[in-house]
Amino acid sequence: MGKTRIALLGFGTVGTGVWNILSTSKGEIEANIGEEIEIAKILVKNIGKRRRVEVPPGILTTDFEEILKDTSIKVIVEVIGGMEPTLDYIKMALESGRHVVTANKLLISKFGSEILRLAAENSVNLRYEASVCGGIPLINVIKESLSVERINEVAGILNGTTNYILSKMTDEGCSFETALAEAQAKGFAEADPTSDVEGFDALYKLRILSKLVFGVETNEDLIFREGITNITKDDISHAKELGYKIKLLAAAKRSMDKIVLRVAPTLVPEKHFLAGVGDCFNAVFLKGAAVGELIFYGKGAGELPTGSAVVSDIVGILRNKSTGQKDRKSTVDISCQTTEWSKSKYFVRFSMNNKTYDIQKLISVFESGNSRVSKMLKVEEAAKTSNVLLIISEADTLELRKALAKLEATFESVKGLRVLRVEDFEAEEFNPQILDAGNL
Ligand code: HSE
Repeated sequence: MGKTRIALLGFGTVGTGVWNILSTSKGEIEANIGEEIEIAKILVKNIGKRRRVEVPPGILTTDFEEILKDTSIKVIVEVIGGMEPTLDYIKMALESGRHVVTANKLLISKFGSEILRLAAENSVNLRYEASVCGGIPLINVIKESLSVERINEVAGILNGTTNYILSKMTDEGCSFETALAEAQAKGFAEADPTSDVEGFDALYKLRILSKLVFGVETNEDLIFREGITNITKDDISHAKELGYKIKLLAAAKRSMDKIVLRVAPTLVPEKHFLAGVGDCFNAVFLKGAAVGELIFYGKGAGELPTGSAVVSDIVGILRNKSTGQKDRKSTVDISCQTTEWSKSKYFVRFSMNNKTYDIQKLISVFESGNSRVSKMLKVEEAAKTSNVLLIISEADTLELRKALAKLEATFESVKGLRVLRVEDFEAEEFNPQILDAGNL
C-alpha cells in the first residue's frame, strides 16, 4: 500500500483534532483512498511545549522551509489561523506544487479568489471546508451537489460564540460577560473575541458562502455588520413578547440584479428552525429555485468537528487529485448592494408615559412613508409608563430614521428607543395585529 506524506502548519485545537482523527480512523481512510496518510512534519512555534498528544520525535519543526524543501510532502494543511504568516505559507505551498487544505476563514474571505487562482495555475487543489461552520459539510455540498442549483438566499447562524452568549442570555438569564467568559473557557471564542461579538467572524463566513452560492465577489465595505454587544436582557424579553428570539443572523439574498448581505442581531420567529438552534451550534438555511429549502445544522467549532472537515478535505484531494473543484461563475450580472438602503422588517421598542399614549397617532407616525405597522403591543411597565413594541414591515433605513425622528418630536415622553431587524423568512401577507389595545 502506498503512502501520502502530509504536513500540518499549526498544532493547536484543530491540528490536534486532525492528528487524532487520522490516528483513530486510519483503517477507514486507507480503505477509502487505498493508501496510508502519514503526518510527516508539523510546524509549531515551540517544540518543547507540553501537548495533549504524543508525537514521534523529529516530526515537530519551527522551520517552514524544512517542510517546503521536503518534496515527499504532497499536501500542506494550514491550521494556524490569521493572516500572517499563513498567507505567505499558503502561496509558497501552492507555488511549489503542493495541494493545500485550510480552515482559515479570514484568509479565504479576503484572499480566496487570489489563492484559488494560484492553485489552478499550479494544477493543485485548495480546499477549505472547515473555514465555514467547522464540522457542517457545506462548502463541498454547495460546490458539488448544488453546483447547478440557482440559490436565491443563504442565511444562518455562522458564529458559535455569539449563539452561545445569546442562548445563555435567553434561556438562563445569564449576563453577556458571564456567557462570553464561558465561551472562552470552552475554547470556541476567538483569541480576541471582538471578532466574534462584533460580527466580523460571521461576516468572513458569509462572504465565503455568498461567493460560493452567487458566484460573485462582494465588497466587504458594503456589507452591513452589527455585533451583539448592545443586546440587552430587555431586548430579549421584549422580542419574546412578540414571539421572536434574537439571533446573530448572517444573510445574503438575491434581490433583482443585486445581492444584499448583512450580519446583524435579528429577531427570528420562535417557531422557525433557526430560533431553536441553541448553545454553540451553527445552522445554515439555503433556498434553491429547484431544490427548495435546505437546512444544515451542527457544530461550527471545536477540535473534532473542525478536524473532521479538514480530514475530509485531505481525503477528497487524495481521492480526486487531478480534478480540482471549480468555483461557480455567475451567469447574470449581479453586484453587491449596501444594506443601508435596502428594505427590511424592523422591531421598534420604547417606553412612554401612559397619558400621552395615542394609538392612532403612533401608527400614523410610522405609516407616513411606505412602512406599515404589522404588530403592536403595549406592556405596562410601571404605574405611569408602558413599553410599546412594534413590528414595522418593510421600511428602508431612510424611512425608518424619519419616522423615529418624528416619533420623538411628536411624543416628548418617548424614551429608550431601540431598533432591531426582523427576519420572517417568508413573504408574509399583510395582516395587522394590534394587541392589547383594550387596556389603553
Ligand atoms: N470563534 C468561532 C465561532 C470559531 O465561535 O464560531 C469557529 O469559526
